[in-house]
Amino acid sequence: MKNIILLGPPGAGKGTQADLICELCNIPKISTGDMLREAVASGSDFGKKVSHILDTGGLVSDEIIGSLIEDRLTKPDCANGSLFDGVPRTLGQASKLDEMGVNFTHVIEISVDDEVIVNRMSGRRVHPGSGKNYHIEFNPPKVDGLDDDSGEPLIQREDDKPETVLKRLDVYHEQTKPLSEFYINKSATSNLIYFSVDGSKLVESVFKEISDQI
Ligand code: AP5
Repeated sequence: MKNIILLGPPGAGKGTQADLICELCNIPKISTGDMLREAVASGSDFGKKVSHILDTGGLVSDEIIGSLIEDRLTKPDCANGSLFDGVPRTLGQASKLDEMGVNFTHVIEISVDDEVIVNRMSGRRVHPGSGKNYHIEFNPPKVDGLDDDSGEPLIQREDDKPETVLKRLDVYHEQTKPLSEFYINKSATSNLIYFSVDGSKLVESVFKEISDQI
């Protein structure tokens, strides 16, 4: 069983690598970002409540994330492990996952400098239905502007505006980066495997490095 956390700043390539790892390990992706965007798109009361937080680059509360994950983990497809994409994002969320009894096997940190990220985000395109990510230059779809699998149109995310990306990076450094030390320390006293990869390399090279280690 593999329970894998992908850590890293916004735009590091977590979603891109998550899809490849899930296929390799045959485990589902649990992306709180995708789950929250789906709620916003559905127009539900919950979606309306979190929409402004997403658009302005803040973090949804640990309580909300805790209950989303708790509910998701009851689904049968998680029985053989899961890939946690962008969660936990705070020390509080890490504690909640511990309380739920999730036994993490790997923590993979994808590191990329802030300047590279700001440039990357302007070229990102997303398929809203599946959450699949593309980049107009580095990871383009087969047909310009269309999803490879469904042929549906790709969109730009509202929170990929440069000023919102800078806010998300601030939030990352303040609230998420401390998780690196948290999991490095944990790996020293348990079977947890922690490793870091350079996310500024090509998508295929980053994936090769990850797949060699898992
Ligand atoms: P979320 O959707 O999780 O966003 P994020 O963590 O900010 O990460 P991104 O999806 O922006 O980037 P990524 O690392 O997945 O990179 P990607 O593969 O797309 O969260 C969105 C919001 O939801 C948060 O801001 C927050 O409000 C809320 N939220 C979510 N989870 C939460 C939680 N747990 N707690 C509280 N709030 C939460 O790649 C980016 C681009 O680069 C793409 O265009 C891609 O094609 C390209 N690319 C990828 N790899 C490479 C490469 N190696 N070289 C060149 N280009 C590359």
